[in-house]
Amino acid sequence: MGNLVATDLTCEYRRNPLGVGVRRRRLSWRLEAGRQGVLQRAYRLAVAAEDGDFDRPVWDSGRVESGESVLVEYGGPELASRTKYVWRVKVWDDAGEESPWSEPAVFETTLLDRSEWQARWIAPAASAIDPQTDAAFLLRKAFRVKDGVKEARIYATAAGVCELYVNGRRVSDEELSPGWTSYQYRLQYQTYDVTELLRAGANAVGVHLGDGWYRSGLAFDKRNFKYGDRRAALVQLHIRYEDGSEEMVASDASWRAATGPVTYSTIYDGETYDRLERDGWSVAGYADDDWAPAETIDLPMETLVPQENWPVRVTETIRPIASLVTPAGDKVLDMGQNMVGRIRFTLEAPAGTTIVLRHAEVLDKDGNIYFGNLRTAKQTVVYTARGEGRETYAPHFTFMGFRYVKVEGWPGDELPLDAFVGEVMHSDMPLTGEFSCSDERVNQLQRNIRWGQRGNFLDVPTDCPQRDERLGWTGDAQVFIATALYNFNGGPFFTKWLRDLKAEQRPDGGVPFVVPDVIGDANSSGWGDAAVICPWTVYRYYGDRRLLAEQYDSMKAWVEYIRAQGDNEYLWNTGFHFGDWVALDAEDGSYVGATPRPLIATAYYAYSSRLLSEAARVLGKTEDAAKYGELHARVVQAFRNEFITGDGRMTAQTQTAHVLALAFDLAGDAAPRISRDLNEMIIRNGYHLTTGFLGTPYLCLVLSDYGYHDTAVRLLLQEGYPGWLYSISKGATTIWEHWDGIKPDGTFWSDDMNSFNHYAYGAVGEWMYRRVAGLDMDGAVPGFKRIRIEPLFGSGLLSRAKTSYRSMYGRIETAWQTDGNRMHVQAIIPANTTARVVLRGATVAGLNIDGRPVGAGGPYPEGIQSIAAAEHGVEVEIGSGEYRFAYEAANLFRTK
Ligand code: BGC
Repeated sequence: MGNLVATDLTCEYRRNPLGVGVRRRRLSWRLEAGRQGVLQRAYRLAVAAEDGDFDRPVWDSGRVESGESVLVEYGGPELASRTKYVWRVKVWDDAGEESPWSEPAVFETTLLDRSEWQARWIAPAASAIDPQTDAAFLLRKAFRVKDGVKEARIYATAAGVCELYVNGRRVSDEELSPGWTSYQYRLQYQTYDVTELLRAGANAVGVHLGDGWYRSGLAFDKRNFKYGDRRAALVQLHIRYEDGSEEMVASDASWRAATGPVTYSTIYDGETYDRLERDGWSVAGYADDDWAPAETIDLPMETLVPQENWPVRVTETIRPIASLVTPAGDKVLDMGQNMVGRIRFTLEAPAGTTIVLRHAEVLDKDGNIYFGNLRTAKQTVVYTARGEGRETYAPHFTFMGFRYVKVEGWPGDELPLDAFVGEVMHSDMPLTGEFSCSDERVNQLQRNIRWGQRGNFLDVPTDCPQRDERLGWTGDAQVFIATALYNFNGGPFFTKWLRDLKAEQRPDGGVPFVVPDVIGDANSSGWGDAAVICPWTVYRYYGDRRLLAEQYDSMKAWVEYIRAQGDNEYLWNTGFHFGDWVALDAEDGSYVGATPRPLIATAYYAYSSRLLSEAARVLGKTEDAAKYGELHARVVQAFRNEFITGDGRMTAQTQTAHVLALAFDLAGDAAPRISRDLNEMIIRNGYHLTTGFLGTPYLCLVLSDYGYHDTAVRLLLQEGYPGWLYSISKGATTIWEHWDGIKPDGTFWSDDMNSFNHYAYGAVGEWMYRRVAGLDMDGAVPGFKRIRIEPLFGSGLLSRAKTSYRSMYGRIETAWQTDGNRMHVQAIIPANTTARVVLRGATVAGLNIDGRPVGAGGPYPEGIQSIAAAEHGVEVEIGSGEYRFAYEAANLFRTK
């Protein structure tokens, strides 16, 4: 007793956030306890004004009898705009122990009312600076500050991407702000604390403004999509003084404008720098008389929303591991890792020396750097030296996907490795998951999956980070989300993206291929279903009901869209579909796998209507729950009639057809036969898969769940082509778009579609967490409040696996190890959760817990609620804490 505490306080997933725009903010905390088996019985929340005076709280919930500790809604009076609040929580556990008040945490509201925006959109006066210039703009304003600043905040955004400076210093380490949203409907603004950067007297604020996603020209096939042709900035600085007075500096026509040394910058092509430096341009004394005036321009204010996503940052720096001279004579750096971000370099060179950095993912079979798969994207940085001693540069408004960098023009014969640093950039999501096992190649696969996620979660879930694409493909996001959310906390990331999806949904419920939509096409099964699958998955991982409620209409609209398509209400057998994209059973010259598209479309129709019905149930929409439950049943029936023969076989003899029928529970009584057929197909194929984007994510899951875990593990460990480890045998450090991006003879798949950083096939990660390591969630309770731990062992191909996952309740860990037939399973679950542990092949009589034998009737060690024999072994119900199980295993591989 005496050890219960509430800790890790977060507001809307974040620690002490600035700029919270949601009105009914949600607060989360974690319990720590000195004993096992702890549940929260009640909580009390208190919110105080910024002075932290809890004797006069803004809101005190009083004691609330509830086990909820995740995303609990603030229930007090309306909070003021631009105001900091301090909050704390205390809890009672199920033994009646009361915790002390937690350490206080803070959150700060942002501009809660649009009318508070006084700033105007500004751009350099068109009469003085050509708005179409490629050069990045500089915008500045000098202002005076009185003594006694208490706090200062900047609220800012851009049509373009920008860096903000106050008195010569960057206001934050966030990159590529304001990020990428469906700008026509939603534009995020950021909030920065600049208190420390101001000083009494003369000050200046500056904006460095590039094209970014807004004006770079996006999408393949020379579509060159632009949101607008004129960059602009919107900045509002609020200064609060100790005496309670306030001042504001806001963008308007009194600002000054110029072009800077970044003479060109786009998302795909890279950046060019030439010496037109304006030293000190964002400090107060700088003479801007020769600058142009700014002018206000009309851009919408209604679209502004506070930052929703995790910001993009440089999260890691890596050094090149080698400098090569290729057979073609190019000087090339090898970063040792296919990464996304940029190179920062330092050099000393005579004025006017031009350095060119061209970024690529791979070397070809001869060892030459290969740019072919970039298509038209140049990913090139051109830098012209100033010649004033050591100079350092990293591009401002672009990012590249690369492992190799061809460097031209570098002074001297060799590329000095210590002159270059790779800066890894992505949405700065907290890392939540780790997986490792006894096979080092699989551990590399896990690293590749994680790198693929980092590189492609750069504000938007993208297909790839290198070629002239880098788009928010809905299908890719949908197949990968369940793995993604094990690896990193993606709550805010998907909240933002799904709001864009919803904003861009067509009046008929259709869903664009890519979100933000820059290509204008919509509606493929397996792609549009992201509208349903993604919010549901976020709900499952974090218990985020609000997102589900917000997206509900969008989910429903997509299902209704489908219903209106087929020539039969319950089949979707019309229209365009990407199908089982890039599957190996595609005909020569086609990207579309052999699984019939109506089969795939109807399978997804069934799945989406089921999830919709479940979402309706969760949200208390009883009528809809019944209606879509009924729809689901009819679609399943239609699927069976159409795609399963009378004697229970799939009409289509492809792996993916079998996988989808099983994964979405469409097969009914035919499931055992269909799973057996699938297993045999794979064995006949020498333990090789043929699946594409849609079959692959579920392939191992269904094999394991239908009793063929060993086949699944063999598929995983397949080193020959095709299989996950094939790319690893070829030295991959990220997941490839194609199973044979580099063929066994060293040649490439065609140039036009050959990304070496495409996360889709990394979707196997979900199965590694859930089945190999056995860390899973309960089917009915979201958010890992109720955990299921059931490692599957396979026939000794792997001898151990370990995983940890930082849920909203805290850290969950599972680890197992075999020692002959002796099994060791370790489980750790956080306070305020419970778990069912299924120990495959165990018997109650033979089970040891924490080194001691336990009988069926107890007494059990602390935290254990029950132990019972079950179909596959023993089931143990546990409360929070750490447990070690050991037993002699029998019958590990019995099938379902
Ligand atoms: C992308 C894919 C995407 C596909 C649509 C490709 O160009 O890279 O990942 O899902 O198009 O089929």
